[in-house]
Amino acid sequence: MRQLLPELVEDVDPQAVHAALPREAPEDRPYVLVNMIESMDGAAVVDGVSGGLGGPGDKLMFRAVRAVPDVILVAAGTANAEHYRAPRLSDEARAARRERGQAATPRLAVVTGRLSIDLSLGLFTDPGDQRPLVITAESAPTNRRDEVEAVAEIIVAGETTVDLADALAQLRRRGSSVVLGEGGPTINGGLVDRDLVDEWCVSLSPPSPGATPVASSAARHPPCAPCAWSGCSSTTACSSSATSAPDGAAAGQFLVRRPISRSKSARSSKPL
Ligand SMILES: NC(=O)c1ccc[n+]([C@@H]2O[C@H](COP(=O)([O-])OP(=O)(O)OC[C@H]3O[C@@H](n4cnc5c(N)ncnc54)[C@H](OP(=O)(O)O)[C@@H]3O)[C@@H](O)[C@H]2O)c1
Repeated sequence: MRQLLPELVEDVDPQAVHAALPREAPEDRPYVLVNMIESMDGAAVVDGVSGGLGGPGDKLMFRAVRAVPDVILVAAGTANAEHYRAPRLSDEARAARRERGQAATPRLAVVTGRLSIDLSLGLFTDPGDQRPLVITAESAPTNRRDEVEAVAEIIVAGETTVDLADALAQLRRRGSSVVLGEGGPTINGGLVDRDLVDEWCVSLSPPSPGATPVASSAARHPPCAPCAWSGCSSTTACSSSATSAPDGAAAGQFLVRRPISRSKSARSSKPL
């Protein structure tokens, strides 16, 4: 894989690059990065799932980003549509995480106000190292809670819908320093609206025949104003790193800059 920004490097290992990036959590919530793929014509799914958009380059980047967080946050719509399973990492990635003081694999957390999550998904039936979390609201159907509690740990944040800021604050109190949001667009919009995103990673795929043009996640990119990167004063998101793969996939990473006081804190990663 070729790195285009911040400087040209002919052959980079995205896993090593992503693992080395500094990601300091604020005191009141974890550092939040979001990772998405979209086609250049603004589609986020083909036949209802994102897999049809990504080639080997995107998969490499997806695995690299997935090796970073303490928790992977996914909304029920995506977990159901994409048949979510527990994250599996290579032995090398697991060892690197342990060296950084993290659990060997990230923990999955599903956001679902109505508990519409399918409990027969692999993430519940074969959870791997870590019991999944289900983040819901007080108004969640009580008759469903026992079933969910049998396969996951429940976190309640918010009354009628999940208060994403509260949910993240609770994850922080449990020791999570870095959270990766994997979508879909609805929850990503909620995170952006609440100013809860620190980094936006996006893979761009070529226009895809059959892709469904949906309200693109690109429209919800957070602004990084005022940007402190290289003295830039742009009020729109700017790319702080970019890569391209031989299959034509391009990936960009956008950092959301905030006043220093907001982002001060210590990284204290420990297994949840
Ligand atoms: N291109 C990509 O990179 C990418 C990435 C991810 C997903 N996708 C695709 O996007 C589609 C799904 O996205 P989507 O936007 O329709 O749905 P979504 O964001 O994945 O899920 C929406 C559901 O999540 C729950 N939810 C989200 N925010 C909530 C909140 N604040 N409070 C309570 N519940 C909340 C609700 O579940 P309840 O109804 O249970 O309350 C809601 O119905 C799928 O087709 C998936 O394949 C693409």
